[in-house]
Amino acid sequence: MYINKINEAKTAYTFDDFLLAPNESWVEPKDVNIKSKISTNFNLKIPIVSAAMDTVTESELAIALAQEGGAGVIHRNMTLENEVKHVKKVKKSGDLTIRDVLTTSPESSLETVKDLMAEGAVSGLPVIESEKLIGIISKRDMKPFLNEETNKTVKDIMTCDLVTVPESISPNEALDIAYENKVERLPVVRDDKLVGIITIKDILEQKQYPHSVRDKDGKLLAIAATGPFDLKRAIALDEVGADIIAIDCAHAHNMDVVNFVSTIKKNVGADLIVGNIATAEAAEALISKDVDGLKVGIGPGSMCTTRIIAGVGVPQITAISQVGDVAKEYDVPVIADGGIRYSGDIAKAIAAGADIVMLGNLLAGTYESPGAVTVINGIKYKQYRGMGSMGAMTGGFGGGADRYFQEIKGPMKHSKLVPEGVEGAVHYKGKVSDVIFQLIGGLKASMGYCGAKDIKAMHENAKFVKITSSGIKESHPHDLLITNESPNYPTLK
Ligand code: XMP
Repeated sequence: MYINKINEAKTAYTFDDFLLAPNESWVEPKDVNIKSKISTNFNLKIPIVSAAMDTVTESELAIALAQEGGAGVIHRNMTLENEVKHVKKVKKSGDLTIRDVLTTSPESSLETVKDLMAEGAVSGLPVIESEKLIGIISKRDMKPFLNEETNKTVKDIMTCDLVTVPESISPNEALDIAYENKVERLPVVRDDKLVGIITIKDILEQKQYPHSVRDKDGKLLAIAATGPFDLKRAIALDEVGADIIAIDCAHAHNMDVVNFVSTIKKNVGADLIVGNIATAEAAEALISKDVDGLKVGIGPGSMCTTRIIAGVGVPQITAISQVGDVAKEYDVPVIADGGIRYSGDIAKAIAAGADIVMLGNLLAGTYESPGAVTVINGIKYKQYRGMGSMGAMTGGFGGGADRYFQEIKGPMKHSKLVPEGVEGAVHYKGKVSDVIFQLIGGLKASMGYCGAKDIKAMHENAKFVKITSSGIKESHPHDLLITNESPNYPTLK
C-alpha cells in the first residue's frame, strides 16, 4: 500500500531542530580535551577536517589545519600528478629534516661554492667524498678568501669537526645540541652518509605549532581524496605517503562502490575513510569491508542541491546518529560532513555521535583556501562551489562529475550533466587559525555547559531538547540591529 509508505515514514532531524540541554557540570571549557579519532590509526587534536573540494582544500589549507591540530582532505578535481604534489608538499612541510640538500666536494673551488650558495640561497654546504660526509663549508669559512685570488679548495678551509645527529632526533634534542655547539645547522647522518640537514630556524618554526598532527616520523598528517573506482590514484597517493585516503563519492551505499572498497583496501597501506552515507544499512555494508572511518552526509551541505534535484537525503542529525550507532559497535570513527554553520552545530554533531566534523563553507573563505579574493561593493569574498556544480564538473579534472556517477562526454558536455550543487561566494575570513580559534572556543563552551570533559563524555552524556520554530527564532539574536559583527556570528551581506 502506497499509503503505508506515507504513514510509516519516520521524522528525520537536523541541527536547528535541537539544542543541547545544559547539564550539571564540573567541567571548565578551558580544561576539556577535544582530541578525537578520525580513523583506525589516527587521532586529531581538534575534531575538524576541511572538505575535499576544489575551492577548499589543497596543500596550503591542509598544512595550516594540520598545524592547528586538525587536517585537510586534499580534493581530487585535479590531475593525479598534481594531487600527488600536494600530498608531497604536506609531508615535506612538516619534515624537520631538509632532504634535498645542495652539497659540494673537497676539490671544488671556492668560486664554485660561492656560486652554488648564491644559487641555492644557502649559507653553508656539506662536503661529500665517496658518498660520505667529511666536512661542512660555510660563508663564514670563505669570507677571508672571497676578495683575493686563491688556489685553495674546499678541503683547505672546511670544518671537519662535525656535529651530526641521527634521524631519530627529536626537535628539542636537536635544538639543545645546536645551541650547545653554537651551530645553526645539523647534518643528519646514517652510516656516515648524509640524509639531510636540520636548521635551528626550522626547529623554532615547528615549535610554534605545538598542537600539530604528525605521523610516526614526525611529518604532518596528510589526507587525500580518490574516486570510488580510482585505484590508480589511491595507489599513487599511498605511495607518496598519504596517511589516510578518503574515498569520495556522493552515494557510498552504491554496491559497486561498496565492493570496490575491498580492492582499494587490498592495494594500499593508508587508512581508508569512505563516504558519504546516511543510513545504518550503509554503515553495516561498509564496515563489513573493513573501512577505517565513515563519512556521513547526503545533501546537508551549504551549496548542495541533491535534496532538491534528486529529492534524496536524510537531515543531518538523524543521519549522524543512525550511522553513529552502528559505527560505535565496531569502534569505527564517524565524520559528520556538511551543513555546519556555527560552532554550536559542531557540538550538536558530536553529541549525535560524530567523532570529527568536515567543513566546507566555514573554511572556504580562508586565506589558505585555493582561489583569489574578490571585492564586491567593498566586501571581500572567495569563491565556493559544490563539487557537483556545473563549474566543478566541467572545470576540473572529472573529480566533480564522477563523484555523482556522471561522465563528461562530447562537445555538448555542459548540457549532458545534471548538477547537484551550485556555485557562489563566501565572505573572506582571513587566516584559518583565527576561524579555528572561534570554532574550538564554541565547542569547548558547549562541552562546559554539557558537563563533558572529552569527546567520549559528549557522546555519552550530552542530551538534546527538541525545539520548535519559535525556539530557533528565540535562539538567534532578535529585536536589535547588530552594530558590530561578531567573529563567530557573521551575517552574509
Ligand atoms: P558545507 O555545508 O560545509 O558542506 O559547505 C560541505 C560538504 O558538502 C558536500 N558537497 C556536495 N554535496 N552537491 C552536494 O549535494 C555538491 O555539489 C557538493 N559539493 C560538496 C561534501 O560532502 C562537502 O564536504
